[in-house]
Amino acid sequence: MDTGWRGVMRGMGRVSGGLVLALIALLALISDARGQIFSKHVVVSQEGHASDVGRDVMRNGGNAFDAAVATAFALAVTHPSAGNLGGGGFLVAYRAESREVLTFDFREMAPQAADSKMYLGPNGLPVPHHRAGAKAAGVPGTVRGLGLIHARIGKLPWPDLVRPAARLAREGFPVSETLAKSLNQQLFSKGRLEPGGKDDLGPGSDRLAGFPESIEAFAKPDRTPWQAGERLTQRDLADTLDRIANEGPDEFYKGRTAQILASYMTEHGGLVTLDDLKAYRARERAPIHSTFRGFDVYGMGPPASGGILLAEMLNILERFDLKADGPQAPQTLQRVTEAMRRGFFTRATEIADPDFVNVPVAKLISKAYADELARSITDRATPSAELAPFPVLSAEGSDTTHLSTIDGDGNAASLTYTLEEGYGSKAVVAGAGFLLNNEMGDFNLVPGRTDSRGRIGTPANLIEPRKRMLSSQTPTIILKEGQVRLVTGSPGGRTIPNTVLWVVLNNLEFQLEPRESVDAVRTHHAWFPDLVALEGNTWPVATRAALEKLGYRLRLGGIQGDAHTIAVDPTTGRRHGVADRRRETSRASGD
Ligand code: DON
Repeated sequence: MDTGWRGVMRGMGRVSGGLVLALIALLALISDARGQIFSKHVVVSQEGHASDVGRDVMRNGGNAFDAAVATAFALAVTHPSAGNLGGGGFLVAYRAESREVLTFDFREMAPQAADSKMYLGPNGLPVPHHRAGAKAAGVPGTVRGLGLIHARIGKLPWPDLVRPAARLAREGFPVSETLAKSLNQQLFSKGRLEPGGKDDLGPGSDRLAGFPESIEAFAKPDRTPWQAGERLTQRDLADTLDRIANEGPDEFYKGRTAQILASYMTEHGGLVTLDDLKAYRARERAPIHSTFRGFDVYGMGPPASGGILLAEMLNILERFDLKADGPQAPQTLQRVTEAMRRGFFTRATEIADPDFVNVPVAKLISKAYADELARSITDRATPSAELAPFPVLSAEGSDTTHLSTIDGDGNAASLTYTLEEGYGSKAVVAGAGFLLNNEMGDFNLVPGRTDSRGRIGTPANLIEPRKRMLSSQTPTIILKEGQVRLVTGSPGGRTIPNTVLWVVLNNLEFQLEPRESVDAVRTHHAWFPDLVALEGNTWPVATRAALEKLGYRLRLGGIQGDAHTIAVDPTTGRRHGVADRRRETSRASGD
């Protein structure tokens, strides 16, 4: 019950047993404006094999948290641009039995040897290609984080959550057209595999092709371009996953994998040491809790900015009757944009690693603060520079993934994790088979420089040894009277909180069906650059003209986010699994 209408139709062509199965599937999977409907457990993620792994874990008695952990491990194999062992992320969990929300921070940390100016060249700006290779990586948090989640709220034995991923790596899986295209773009230039090509030399490169180990891991043995349906096997990654399955998460931080990683770092100019790996901790943190029109909104606190931003923006927007105007009315877009602008100003000035910086969370998510901010919204655009109590200089001159799970008991998990850019630093650790993140780029890299293009140089998020870099990730769970109503989140860098804001507003404020809430076009404003990004090209001329008249600079086109969402119908309890259709490989799997 996993391949949607096309899978069902294929099943119907087989013998009668297959036909019966296909009919059952058809009944369970009626795909309509509300998303795929399930009655028990659901996993929605960016890649089908990984969603199936999570679903099978729940079929075998695991809970929604086990499913999230297993799906995350599987995505590290089947969705290599963002799924990872070498990155980090966040999880928001709702435990039905105790009716509590827990949040887990497994964000990467700066290595001990890092410092605030480590990426700057003689001109005071980051050196070219500072986001590729070993030196771009923070200490990975994913394996420790998934281990902590399992130890705290998981149910099945640990190896059961890691082995399906190891199997996918060892036996391989057929690559989709999307993955084939993505790997070919990373590996080939004009149809030729190009190690050592002039743009792709060693640590100066920003594609997989610049790194021999990455070519080894991701190119076909005969080095011809990938075609959809061919199998990708990853032997070193399978060995690493087997070690993690057998020895537990400690293996990655203290065992053989740690040694392989530390040697790779030494040989390739990276800063992460065995001591950094040993010292790495995932953290359980207090959730961000706010309310919106009687719903309880739970999100991730610092070093993620998403929870605070979503709370602040919803608190501001609660002061207006958006529903009277509708989701795409100029007045709604104006108010939403002003809420985003103020949220992102807060992000730039107040939010960073709470182990290093005092973040005034209670104030930032209070209704009183939202009142103050809402009062500053006029009926025109507020110039962004007006919010900054410091000079903003004029400017010179995506890949994360989200998954949502729910089980038959009503436990739910919202997990976002990332390597930062697609394929992270592009460097695979030789002998361990996994990609390193380039998350260090989420710190403010140029101290003191905040400019109109969007570079932020405010002090809270400067690099310091063992500090976690600020994140936009926004895994979110929304409850009403103790029952899960919405589980969502998204990739997309700074657009993430705004994508989640739209999914939430569409569903709770405008009362769109779950599928429409995810499909509907989104917008983005991030304080700087001071422009409104309107997703797609379907915006009516009159809407654009109205916004421009109010002083907004617009940019049209592209796609925004990838919000794999579960919505629960409060009357029937049915689960609507909504795989965001913006990227083709996503899938809802469940029963
Ligand atoms: O944590 C963050 O804010 C970023 N590293 C997320 C990057 C991202 O979403 C790229 N993807 N599409």
